[in-house]
Amino acid sequence: MENVKNLFDLAGRVAIITGGTGLLGQQHAQAIAGAGGIPILADIRVTEVDLHSQDWKARFGEQVCAIQTDITDPKSVKNLLETTLDKFGRVDILINHAANNPKMENNVEVEFSRLEFFTLEQWDADLNVGLKGAFLCSQIIGSEMARRKQGVIVNVASDLAVIAPDQRLYRKPGLPEDKQPVKPVTYSVVKTGLIGLTRYLATYWADSGIRVNAISPGGVYNNQPDDFVERLAKLIPLGRMANIDEYQAAILFLCSDASSYMTGTNLVVDGGRSCW
Ligand SMILES: NC(=O)c1ccc[n+]([C@@H]2O[C@H](COP(=O)([O-])OP(=O)(O)OC[C@H]3O[C@@H](n4cnc5c(N)ncnc54)[C@H](O)[C@@H]3O)[C@@H](O)[C@H]2O)c1
Repeated sequence: MENVKNLFDLAGRVAIITGGTGLLGQQHAQAIAGAGGIPILADIRVTEVDLHSQDWKARFGEQVCAIQTDITDPKSVKNLLETTLDKFGRVDILINHAANNPKMENNVEVEFSRLEFFTLEQWDADLNVGLKGAFLCSQIIGSEMARRKQGVIVNVASDLAVIAPDQRLYRKPGLPEDKQPVKPVTYSVVKTGLIGLTRYLATYWADSGIRVNAISPGGVYNNQPDDFVERLAKLIPLGRMANIDEYQAAILFLCSDASSYMTGTNLVVDGGRSCW
């Protein structure tokens, strides 16, 4: 019988991570590299320094590669695929991770977030990155994987794909009701939409050797204000936010053969928040 540890082995597998230079994208890269895979950080924010970063090589493996990509632009996504194929000859994994992720708890200019004031420009901008971007990457990179009859797509959703935001978390003392910040409507729409995209692609490509799953992480502790952290912790059965590295194992599970009989599902990793 195959050693169960081997099921998590990603040796030689090439993984494109959109939003790969962001807070959690770098954690996913570490998970891929830690299992022997090659992470490609595809992000709109890639600097010259990043391209040759020794620090990244130390953390994400010698072969790590950053490719500046705007996932809302089909030409840019095609360039991402072509550059990856030129360099490595294959792509095995796509993690649709990039999103506009407004941190309401730190924001001072928050009025825009309220439904009544929410602009169409902001609606379009958020849906463009979160949904159109994930669709385009799946269409262009997923089709290449389907051609090879092998691949894995992981869509990064959120606990807010399965529950509504509790807007009491974001309240600021002293502000009138019509100026109280809220988690924007687009966040729920994008993240819930990604679950639909997951099911659609999973069934569409089931015969093409491609598995498609979502992961719904809860909030990561990243020096948010104490009062926010305390309020949120009370909504979570495990009593705390996630540590930044606590999604690595779940990402590795979904990207590897360890999850070979899983497709079309949403793995909720939220400290139990959504079961309360
Ligand atoms: N941080 C959390 O607590 C948390 C919790 C649940 C889910 N998530 C989800 O994880 C993902 C990343 O969150 P994060 O906290 O790392 O945010 P982040 O803002 O640090 O990372 C997002 C990345 O996406 C990139 N990006 C934005 N627009 C892009 C575009 N057009 N093309 C390519 N890249 C683009 C940004 O440059 C950034 O590096 C998001 O989908 C978020 O919703 C985060």
